[in-house]
Parts: sequence; structure tokens; C-alpha cells
Amino acid sequence: MSNMESIFKMSGVNRLVNISLLERGLQLLGAFTAASTVFKVVSLARLYLSPSSLSLNRWKHGNPYALVTGATDGIGWGIVDALAARGFSIILHGRDRNKLEDRRAILQEQYPSLKTEILVFDVLKDPYDNIEELVSGISHLNVTILVNNVGGIPFMPGYITLAEHDSSRIDHVIDMNARFLAHFTRYMMPILSRNGPSLIMNIGSAAEFGLPCATVYSGAKGFVLSFSEALARECKISKTPVDVLNINLGDVSTKQTPTPVRFANPLAKDFGRDVVGRVGAAVASDRNTVTPHIPHAIFLGVLKPLPEFVKVAFLRNMIQDAQALHRKVFNLKEE
Ligand SMILES: NC(=O)c1ccc[n+]([C@@H]2O[C@H](COP(=O)([O-])OP(=O)(O)OC[C@H]3O[C@@H](n4cnc5c(N)ncnc54)[C@H](OP(=O)(O)O)[C@@H]3O)[C@@H](O)[C@H]2O)c1
Repeated sequence: MSNMESIFKMSGVNRLVNISLLERGLQLLGAFTAASTVFKVVSLARLYLSPSSLSLNRWKHGNPYALVTGATDGIGWGIVDALAARGFSIILHGRDRNKLEDRRAILQEQYPSLKTEILVFDVLKDPYDNIEELVSGISHLNVTILVNNVGGIPFMPGYITLAEHDSSRIDHVIDMNARFLAHFTRYMMPILSRNGPSLIMNIGSAAEFGLPCATVYSGAKGFVLSFSEALARECKISKTPVDVLNINLGDVSTKQTPTPVRFANPLAKDFGRDVVGRVGAAVASDRNTVTPHIPHAIFLGVLKPLPEFVKVAFLRNMIQDAQALHRKVFNLKEE
């Protein structure tokens, strides 16, 4: 055999070896993709099909209290209603004592055996040095659930460019969505840990994804997501008996987001039931974040993998619609 012939033979063998290696690699990749898809489907089925009535059992021991911030309206009030219906006594936080007393009276009438407490604190006006004292007033109670719900954009029109924010608007959005949450949670941790197993639900937003004309709000909700994930892991590592969940959501029809109610945009009361019904399965499946309303989960699942130019086109329309709605509902003039 000439030198040339043996080289041809060897390269043929090498090609065969390479092809069979490639096949093997593709088979492994296929098996890995199939296994991870099956795992995702089973985990989603477990999350969304688990009986919601069992959801809170892990945190319902002793005579449990749930503390909800921003509890007088919207999503906070919806979650209060769902927790009270499951037998939790309630600590209502808000900024307006009269409105808090009205809400307390409604709860007391609907659930006569329920105990209620009130915390008055304006997250934009009151000094944060007073939070420790505020929390010490309820430290003797068996609080096993904390819902950090207070948040949003505390000015109108809400959807403005970064340049249109003045410094007080920037500070207010950060205080309302991130700074108060961090300080308040810090003081609540020893109480929740002592009463464990306990649960913290931090109400985030799909805006953490990066919503144009809501830059500071998006960043603050990104903080809520990272803060929740980090605290969840900190508790797991230190074996602190506190479960932590970021609650992700799209539009819910409330005073602040007066979007028409439809399948994708539920009423706050219905959303409250979704939250309370899903958190147990979320923690059982070791998640640190959950999107409790199924249409929101589908919407985000479709949006996130899209190419950037498609996202930009979609978000441009979405923001224009939201700005038009704000102008209509709050009687604002075109800027
Ligand atoms: N609605 C949505 O589509 C949507 C979407 C994504 C995320 N979120 C998040 O969900 C949470 C609740 O939003 P929401 O739409 O339910 O809002 P909402 O209807 O405006 O209710 C906000 C609650 O916070 C209280 N609050 C407002 N400013 C306060 C202050 N300075 N100090 C203390 N309490 C104050 C309000 O009290 P008053 O009753 O006195 O006003 C009310 O109880 C927020 O974290 C928001 O970012 C909402």
C-alpha cells in the first residue's frame, strides 16, 4: 500500500470515529433536553394543579397571624381576605388610621372569631428609625406570614422617562418598593424565625424584566427579586425556619393599575386567592420565586425568549396603552 492510500484509509477511520462521537453527543444532548423538559412540565403541573386548600398548612400552627403591608387596598387587601378566609388572624399595615379601622371592621364582621391588629406607618413620610419600635409592638404575636406588599409608583402619570423623574420621585419609588421592605424585613426576621416555620412573600412585578418608562420602578422590583432569592438561600444555608418567595405578576386591576378586568388581568380579590393557593406548592418544590396567576406565567414565558427587537416593539405598544389608560382614568392632560 502506498503512503497516499494509507493516509486515505486513516482519515476515513477518523471521520467514522468523529461521526459516531457527534451522534453520541447529539443523543446525550437530546436526552438531557428531554429530561429537563419533563422535569419542568412535572414541576409546573405540581405547582399549578396542587390542591390550593393545603397550601398554607406549613405555616398554620399555634394561633397564627399574617402581617400584610399596604393592606388597605388592591392586592394587599385581596391577600388579607384570602388569608383571613384560611383562618389566619391579621395585622393590617397602612398609612391612614381611619381606612385601617374601616378595613378592620369589615374583617371583624365577616370573620367574627378573627383577631386583628393595626400598624400605622407612612413609608414615604415617617422616619425609618421608628420601624424597630413599630415592629416591637407586635413582637409578642405568633406571626408566621409576612407579606411585603406595599409598593408601586406613587405619582401620576406613572409611566414617565428617566429624564422626567425628579430626585424626589426617584427616592419615593425606591423607598416604597425596596428600602422599606429591606428595613422592615430585617426587624421581622427574628420574630418569624422564632415562630418558624414562617413565610415571607415579597410582592415583586413583571417590571423587573425591564419596563421602558418605568426604569426606577423596574430597578426597584429587580431589587425585590434578588433580595428574595438571596434571603431564601441565606435561610436555607443557615437552617433558619423562614421560607422566602418573590411573587411575580403582571397587571392586576387595582386603584393604582385601573386596567379593565379580564382573564389575564384579574381582580385583586381573585389574585389574592391565587397567591395564597400557590405558595405552599411553590415552597414544596423548592422555588424562590413564583408567578401565581397562570395567564401571567404564560405571558412571561412567551415574552422572555423573544428577540430584543420584538420585545421593544411589544413593550412600546404596551406602555403607550398604559399611558393612555392613566390619562383617561386619572383625567390627565397629554404631555
Ligand atoms: N396592580 C398591578 O397591576 C401590579 C402589578 C405588578 C406589581 N404590583 C405590585 O403589587 C403591590 C400592590 O399594588 P396595588 O396595585 O395593589 O396598589 P394599590 O391598590 O394602590 O394599594 C397600595 C396599598 O399600599 C398602601 N400605601 C400606598 N402608599 C403608602 C404609603 N406611603 N405608606 C403606607 N402605605 C401606603 C395603600 O394605602 P391607601 O389605601 O391609604 O392608599 C394601599 O393599601 C405593589 O408592590 C405593586 O408594585 C401591582
